[in-house]
Amino acid sequence: MFPLSTLAAQALLIGGVSVLMAVMISVIDSIVNNYGDVQLDINGKKQVTVKGGSKLLGTLADQGIFLPSACGGRGSCGACKCQVKSDVGPHLPTEVPYLTQQELRENVRLACQVKVKADIGIQIPEELFNIKKLSCTVESMTNLTYDIKEVRLKLPEGSDLTYTAGQYGQIEVPAYGGIREPSARAYSFASAPQEKDTLEFLIRLVPGGTVTTYVHKFLKVGDKINVVAPVGDFRVHDTQAAMICVGGGSGMAPFRSIFRDMEARGVLGERDIWYFFGGHSVKDLYFMDWLKELAAKYERFHFIPAVSEPGPGEVWEGKPARLIDVLAERFKTEIPRELAKEGYLCGSPGMLDASMEIMRKNGMTDDKIYFDKFA
Ligand SMILES: Cc1cc2nc3c(=O)[nH]c(=O)nc-3n(C[C@H](O)[C@H](O)[C@H](O)COP(=O)(O)OP(=O)(O)OC[C@H]3O[C@@H](n4cnc5c(N)ncnc54)[C@H](O)[C@@H]3O)c2cc1C
Ligand code: FES
Repeated sequence: MFPLSTLAAQALLIGGVSVLMAVMISVIDSIVNNYGDVQLDINGKKQVTVKGGSKLLGTLADQGIFLPSACGGRGSCGACKCQVKSDVGPHLPTEVPYLTQQELRENVRLACQVKVKADIGIQIPEELFNIKKLSCTVESMTNLTYDIKEVRLKLPEGSDLTYTAGQYGQIEVPAYGGIREPSARAYSFASAPQEKDTLEFLIRLVPGGTVTTYVHKFLKVGDKINVVAPVGDFRVHDTQAAMICVGGGSGMAPFRSIFRDMEARGVLGERDIWYFFGGHSVKDLYFMDWLKELAAKYERFHFIPAVSEPGPGEVWEGKPARLIDVLAERFKTEIPRELAKEGYLCGSPGMLDASMEIMRKNGMTDDKIYFDKFA
């Protein structure tokens, strides 16, 4: 047995060494990563002086320019593409899977992977200048199922946000628990664009997920929360083709926005729509009354719910079946082959890939299939 005083001295020594090492790392980091001020040229139109050493995505955000960033800068969504006009070194292995051969040749980069170390020129689409960071206030939070919440946010006074149904916002939650930086992820708008002062989202809890855990466990009415918006190009194409829509779970969010928008514009009954929505059990379903009402009101709106495994004691009117099997079956029995069609899909990558395969088998082509993978 060691005397208590010896243990305390050892603990103090270890603590002191840790503090000293942290200070040394911080000093070395500030020397090695000190790139000083650098010039950032945007589209040959705007030149600003910025502090070097940070990732291009964050450097641009500090200047109020927000590139799409569905994964919050982790290099796993490929959304933050931007053409770099200067030499910033070769593409990193983390960038290559997201870039086409042409993009590689044109030095398109993932802004979350490129560090700004010297003067740099970039080219970005003009519409990205419309993306803003908005400090919203939580107006209400409602449990739609055991793992999906509807979150309504009040937009700041005079924000004048305009967006298209189908687009998304990047919700940023503050540092919490062991997570030392704010984290942002993409969430499709569920509100209609006509609703001018509120935004609505449908957020499913991902066990262990950074942002969804914060939203489900800590966010409360009255809190302030940042949303970067509007982002994304998922939207309804202005044609008369039948819309084959697939969105299970929280994948209903953009469709809630799209159908509300079409109804507000008086065009919901003007083209054929099949909406496939489903879950494992009955307790995964929500907004059923609203969707059944739409189907009753508009002859050309077809709502097809699916449940694969009703839980014990649950009553399900139909035959238990997976959403993709129901989709395949309706192509055989109900959706005319000769009808011009467009596919619209949102939700988990697995469900989307399987649904797109069924669409292709039924004569639909990739150029008419639009989707947002919730990954
Ligand atoms: C364009 C777009 C729109 C989106 N819209 C919505 C929306 O309207 N509603 C919504 O709920 N989500 C939506 N998402 C998904 C969302 O952006 C996050 O990926 C998701 O909420 C997980 O974030 P997190 O921070 O909680 O988990 P993370 O900390 O990012 O992930 C934790 C772990 O869970 C895994 N994981 C991540 N996502 C999922 C998932 N969906 N299912 C299972 N495991 C997962 C990760 O691989 C990781 O291992 C959208 C995604 C995109 C790209
Ligand atoms: S922000 Fe997702 S890859 Fe860069």
